[in-house]
Amino acid sequence: MTRKLALVVGARPNFMKAAPLIRELRKFPEHFTPVLIHTGQHYDHKLSKLFFDELAMPRPDVHLDVGSGTHAEQTAKIMIALENTFLADRPDLVIVFGDINSTLAAAIVAAKLCIPLAHVEAGLRSFDNAMPEEINRIVTDRLSDILFVSEKSGLVNLRHEGTPDERVYFVGNIMIDSLAGNLEKAGESDILSRLELEPKRYVAMTMHRPANVDNPEVLGRILETVRTIGRRVPVVFPCHPRTRKMIEENHLADLNDTKTLRILNPLGYLEFLRLQSESQFVLTDSGGIQEETTYLRIPCLTVRENTERPSTVEVGSNVITGIDPHRILNAAEQVIDGNGKSGEIPELWDGHTAVRIVEILKNQTL
Ligand code: UD1
Repeated sequence: MTRKLALVVGARPNFMKAAPLIRELRKFPEHFTPVLIHTGQHYDHKLSKLFFDELAMPRPDVHLDVGSGTHAEQTAKIMIALENTFLADRPDLVIVFGDINSTLAAAIVAAKLCIPLAHVEAGLRSFDNAMPEEINRIVTDRLSDILFVSEKSGLVNLRHEGTPDERVYFVGNIMIDSLAGNLEKAGESDILSRLELEPKRYVAMTMHRPANVDNPEVLGRILETVRTIGRRVPVVFPCHPRTRKMIEENHLADLNDTKTLRILNPLGYLEFLRLQSESQFVLTDSGGIQEETTYLRIPCLTVRENTERPSTVEVGSNVITGIDPHRILNAAEQVIDGNGKSGEIPELWDGHTAVRIVEILKNQTL
């Protein structure tokens, strides 16, 4: 008998995690009927639809169109809409990804309706509750029946929290399935020539964490530091709408600068993959990019005080700089002077995580 699996996605970092899984599930129609639900947390073309197209994902079967709001508003809107969806058409299993508000909302609704819940990318912890994602991770894992772990630290964290071992599966990093599968296609992107960039002669940057961008003084100081780096190696910065709004409202950067710090609109998945893979190094506060640079073995400087993905530092190419300008500049100079970290690829980041997850799901009695 085929089982109905509801895969819930909402924002940019979810899409590359869901795409390989839905593709693999569709190979076994006798076992699974996947239903893709998009909450609409991200709605801009460049943050959402473009990713569906590039990742060759099927159109969502259900679109909840919730949009932006405060954390409580957004989470509550998703919960109300999802409860209706699940009551109208009850899935046998709900699958959630990562740590965004859509993940949390879907986890709570599934748990309250007593629908089994699986979490892909379980067990990551920054131990920093000021990060909204940390709260989302803790609650989602606590409520999950099946926990798919991407790196070894996740196993340790879940065991410390008392999660029964039989619920936890170390399957590797599903985002790497998307990356490995799309690297060749990304190589065809003309992003470098369009921006007149030469391989290894620029820095790729992203910055969107509330802790870094919601306070104009903090963001202003980070951008000033980045301009100092940019005078040695030009910095290219595809900018999240949240960050752009702050820059514009507070006049924190010259939006017409094409040399030192070049601010762009968000890029698609393939273009950004190409931009990362040819860069001298990456400067970011994203979680996923710490992992992508580790796989690509490109030095990554993470402008945060902690990471929930310690294998990227212990094994991979990541360095945590914090937000202190001197530490960021020192770390950047080390890479520019040829002492960047290239690291190794963590265990099971091999492009086959979706296959492992589907094998496990086949053997579950739900
Ligand atoms: C969300 C995730 C974060 C993830 C990031 C990737 C949470 C708590 N955070 O953060 O973990 O790293 O996505 O991008 O779920 N906006 C637009 N267009 C959109 C979506 C958002 O302009 O399509 C603007 C709105 O002003 C909105 C703000 O961005 O208020 C924040 O969006 P939101 O979905 O709340 O969180 P992100 O910062 O995108």
